[in-house]
Amino acid sequence: MSESRQILVTSALPYANGSIHLGHMLEYIQTDIWVRFQKMRGNQAVYVCADDAHGSAIMLRAEREGITSEQLIDGVRAEHMADFADFLVDFDNYHSTHAEENRELSSSIYLKLRDAGHIATRPVTQYFDPEKQMFLADRFIKGTCPKCGTADQYGDNCEACGATYSPTELKDPKSAISGATPVLKESLHYFFKLPDFDAMLKQWTRGGALQESVANKIAEWLDAGLQEWDISRDAPYFGFEIPDAPGKYFYVWLDAPIGYMASFKNLCARRPELDFEAFWNKDSKAELYHFIGKDIVNFHALFWPAMLEGAGYRKPTALNVHGYLTVNGQKMSKSRGTFVKARTYLDHLNPEYLRYYYAAKLGRGVDDLDLNLEDFVQKVNSDLVGKVVNIASRCAGFIHKLNNGVLPSREFTLSQLEKVREAHGWSGSTFFEDDGFYRTIEIEIGRAYEARDFARAMRETMRWADVANNFIAVTEPWKLAKEGKNDEAIAVCAEGINWFRLLVILLKPVLPKLAEAAEAFLNVAPLTWADHEQLLANHQLNPFNPLMTRIEPAKIDAMIEASKEDLAASAAKPTGNGELTKDPLAAEINFDAFAAVDLRIALIEKCEFVEGADKLLRLSLDIGDEKRNVFSGIKSAYPDPSKLEGRLTLYVANLAPRKMKFGVSEGMVLAAGPGGEEIYLLSPDSGAKPGQRVK
Ligand code: 2FM
Ligand code: ZN
Repeated sequence: MSESRQILVTSALPYANGSIHLGHMLEYIQTDIWVRFQKMRGNQAVYVCADDAHGSAIMLRAEREGITSEQLIDGVRAEHMADFADFLVDFDNYHSTHAEENRELSSSIYLKLRDAGHIATRPVTQYFDPEKQMFLADRFIKGTCPKCGTADQYGDNCEACGATYSPTELKDPKSAISGATPVLKESLHYFFKLPDFDAMLKQWTRGGALQESVANKIAEWLDAGLQEWDISRDAPYFGFEIPDAPGKYFYVWLDAPIGYMASFKNLCARRPELDFEAFWNKDSKAELYHFIGKDIVNFHALFWPAMLEGAGYRKPTALNVHGYLTVNGQKMSKSRGTFVKARTYLDHLNPEYLRYYYAAKLGRGVDDLDLNLEDFVQKVNSDLVGKVVNIASRCAGFIHKLNNGVLPSREFTLSQLEKVREAHGWSGSTFFEDDGFYRTIEIEIGRAYEARDFARAMRETMRWADVANNFIAVTEPWKLAKEGKNDEAIAVCAEGINWFRLLVILLKPVLPKLAEAAEAFLNVAPLTWADHEQLLANHQLNPFNPLMTRIEPAKIDAMIEASKEDLAASAAKPTGNGELTKDPLAAEINFDAFAAVDLRIALIEKCEFVEGADKLLRLSLDIGDEKRNVFSGIKSAYPDPSKLEGRLTLYVANLAPRKMKFGVSEGMVLAAGPGGEEIYLLSPDSGAKPGQRVK
């Protein structure tokens, strides 16, 4: 066997302010399969990840929830870790970027870059929120599009006409955090001099580290010329302070990739056989792979290798870039219920179904992957349940009944199979005899796994499953047993069990739980890749328990429904036109369902008639750090809408946006009463402030 490789593998670090969904899972499952394959091969593979815990979005969300940023990121990290574990994603370490190792590494990398002359400073003029006393990132500024005049557009692009612009071009800009009119203010910023690394990057990006289409995209950027990268943010910011610049913080994207190193360093402290330097020094022989989505290629293919080079570390061996997930051919959608959280999936379905489906569709490229839910059910049921598990369940019974669960010797099996061959006109070969068989497995499946062409690995594995099923169908062990040809039936089933064992080895990186259950049935130690070259004979089996059940389509429907409710977890559902429902008592819900409703205090800033609508009013709400636009069917009770302006009310903030004839309604306000003139908008006691959560 060739020498074992040292391989460090990462997936992108998820932000610590939101839940993991099936789009995220594509990447973690892809990476996990590859790492498990490497470990089965006997390589020293290490898989690290962490929560990406810094930035103003996290700071603002914590503030809104009345907790510290640390409390927020700790809670989210625990949630993420549980989701990953339940999807059988087996990290060697799951850390946080808000950790001491990361502070030290980020500071030292920055200082090395500075001392080598790769840091510049210069003043930058930016919008500043005078109320919140903070500089505003583009997405925290809203205003009227300078091109088409649509109101309520974000600071860098217009959703209506697609124009891109700088926030200073917006008309009537407002802070999306406080609603205040921002002022322009100057501040000193720190820049990483990316152009210093132009020649290195041109070479590295063409040196085999990138898929071709990714390399081509990067080449366009390189040809357009590199810009210096702004790596500082002013306080208040949740992150690490820059060592020689009090009040200035590293931009979240500076310390995020360093989080890969920090997570590994944290692991080294627990695993003495791992040596941080050996993996990260300039001449390291270890391999380093980052699995990422195509949206963050610039950070990983330009900034990150340049930072590593500038600070004297090794660069990645390769970036493994994947595309986006679509569901039923479309972007995941909250209102269609196809924006499925990892936990919602797990509440309804077995994680290995999705692992297999993703594997069956994942190639080496950056194409988007479609989770077609009908195809998902069909493929999992026919391949895993129909082809793989079926072989074991057909054969195990006979071995137990006719031979006390013992697989006979190979000689016995072969001699009996000769008889079967004659009697059944079976023309296939006993596959294990042929040396070429193992080479075929290695070439077709081992190499496909190595190249991350899991679709091919699954296709070829299922081809062997077809061969195995065909063998059983032709030799008909049930008939042999009925005719009293017990020895022949035992031989056929022993061969069948060996087929099954082989399929389990080939699928183990994808289906670790199924493999574990199969190992228990086969009564063997954890299977490794090399085990595919051996057979099981003269061996006692354990009783067989069903290994996997079919997907029931009703479970899929339930998951989709639950995903809709995740976002609108409210007992009182608005009717299609935004009217209040007149339901009597709503069904009982548990506390979690109630807690899932994000109820806030909202200030009605503006309230007006909607042209062409009989029952609706349009409300512009201030919900603390954002503005929301809501249509509400309360016109009959408020003939003079301006009377509502300046009033506080209760607002459901996490209701999925609803597209209506007159525009998109973002959430709903709460009112009581039978309808008509008797509709009473709810109000908090005086003293409540916009954005406060109702508990
Ligand atoms: O895009 C994202 O979700 C980022 N949190 C990924 C960071 S990857 C790495 F660089 F840290
Ligand atoms: Zn526009």
